[in-house]
Amino acid sequence: MDSCRRLVWMVCWLNLASLSLQGGSGSERGQCPGQGWTGQIFEENPRLVATDRSGERFEIGNPPNDSLSVLHIRGSPFELGRAHGTLLRSEIQTMYIRLFKHMEDQVIVALHLSALPDILGRSIARFIINAALDATYLLTIKDTPSRFIDEMIGLAQGAQVEYNDVVRIQMIPELLQASCSMLGSWGPATSASSNPGEGGGNGCGLYQLRALDWDLDAPIFDYQTIIYYHPADGNSFAIFTWAGFIGCVTGYSGRLGISEKVWLNHTGSSSRVGMPWHFLLRDVLQQTDNIDDAMRLMATTPRTCSILLGIGSRKDSKFVLVGFSSDTLDLYDDRNFTLITSSTPANESHQFPGVIYVDKYVQPSEDKCMPSVVQSCYGKLDEFTLLDMVAKQQTGALHTALYDFFSNNVLFSWAAKRLVMYVTLFQLRLTWVTTTAFKRTSFEGFLGCEEKILNDAERNSSKF
Ligand SMILES: *[C@@H]1O[C@H](CO)[C@@H](O)[C@H](O)[C@H]1NC(C)=O
Ligand SMILES: *[C@@H]1O[C@H](CO)[C@@H](O)[C@H](O)[C@H]1NC(C)=O
Ligand SMILES: *[C@@H]1O[C@H](CO)[C@@H](O)[C@H](O)[C@H]1NC(C)=O
Ligand SMILES: *[C@@H]1O[C@H](CO)[C@@H](O)[C@H](O)[C@H]1NC(C)=O
Ligand SMILES: *[C@@H]1O[C@H](CO)[C@@H](O)[C@H](O)[C@H]1NC(C)=O
Repeated sequence: MDSCRRLVWMVCWLNLASLSLQGGSGSERGQCPGQGWTGQIFEENPRLVATDRSGERFEIGNPPNDSLSVLHIRGSPFELGRAHGTLLRSEIQTMYIRLFKHMEDQVIVALHLSALPDILGRSIARFIINAALDATYLLTIKDTPSRFIDEMIGLAQGAQVEYNDVVRIQMIPELLQASCSMLGSWGPATSASSNPGEGGGNGCGLYQLRALDWDLDAPIFDYQTIIYYHPADGNSFAIFTWAGFIGCVTGYSGRLGISEKVWLNHTGSSSRVGMPWHFLLRDVLQQTDNIDDAMRLMATTPRTCSILLGIGSRKDSKFVLVGFSSDTLDLYDDRNFTLITSSTPANESHQFPGVIYVDKYVQPSEDKCMPSVVQSCYGKLDEFTLLDMVAKQQTGALHTALYDFFSNNVLFSWAAKRLVMYVTLFQLRLTWVTTTAFKRTSFEGFLGCEEKILNDAERNSSKF
């Protein structure tokens, strides 16, 4: 019954961690809230569960408690949306109902509406939520390409939900703020075994880590989904998302990887008018292949909220941090990213060439955990040390993705069934990541390390 799941590695991380500390200062002991990673990596073939004219739905993990939906969708924007909606219809319908109810609950508490009869309090709360989300839509619609509108129309038709609700759900990230961490490492920072193309580029040795922490009460938990887009125009790419949500908060195209976090201490202005940032990040994946082109696209598009954006690039064989807001688009490299992350940037901060990291706290952050792990693992950063860092920092509760540009694999972990997660998160806080299984997802259908651009026929036939 569990025959598709193959346990590939069961790593006793503590042993490896003590090895990797040799030669290091070992100073991260005591600097980090969590213990090291002792979890497992599962490698598993997704099971086909449904097909549609322009897509397929697969599943990984064990339903109902820890499964994840994987969609492959193709075609025009409308077809992409319709396939997404059709393949996940019942999930989208129940998620939208639960998510609106969850937001209503929060508004009821915030505005002390609980003294009112439930029905009345709830309709007032819903009215306020709709008004806020609709206003966000009106401010961004002018700068939203019609492709996204067509996709949302298709999604509403496929899932048989109201178009207005589809739009409102997409607007939520424009209103909310998540605390996350990210890291990029390449070249001299990465372990030699995963860095064979010394100086040769092609993304070899480039890792990008993305850990998302968000409202753990939100019912999006149960609807985690990976959507592989195979659009009629542009690059194929995957977003790590939730049923019925089409923006990119975490995404990978084989060419570029995307990570982001809210940029709280940004002093410049923040606008609500412009293209929703999570739509723009999707266009970065779909339309660009390298950092220069990505920066150009973002520079010429009206931007909204302030976020810190991480972009890993295969062609450039590096990762950059971007300060992104309506009036700012600043690029930081491994020499000057501490201008953002430290209130006392070192004079010569090029202490660790080939690493950029932003921890989960408000920046600038004086927390010592991430720098101490980087210090003790420098030159040996690989997937194990990076997963260890996630566990030590206790980040990535909602999901964590580790893009390995060399092997073109993504390790992905997600919060499993709420009950399980609650117990492990709040009662066994120190060891929660130990119970989180990472799933390895191959992106062979996209790009390999050897710059192999697949033609259409190859791409169609090698989905995983
Ligand atoms: C799923 O979770 C429920 C509630 O936590 C539990 O009772 C059940 O045994 C779990 N099922 C599996 C297959 O793990
Ligand atoms: C950044 O924000 C935090 C809390 O929001 C505040 O305490 C801190 O002083 C701010 N730092 C700077 C440099 O603005
Ligand atoms: C950081 O350094 C890079 C490369 O030296 C430079 O292009 C960029 O403008 C610098 N960023 C800031 C904000 O000074
Ligand atoms: C910082 O660098 C400048 C120029 O390289 C140098 O003159 C100055 O003394 C340095 N300051 C510190 C505190 O090291
Ligand atoms: C690949 O898939 C696309 C979209 O479904 C289709 O239009 C195209 O004809 C396919 N190409 C080949 C060579 O099969």
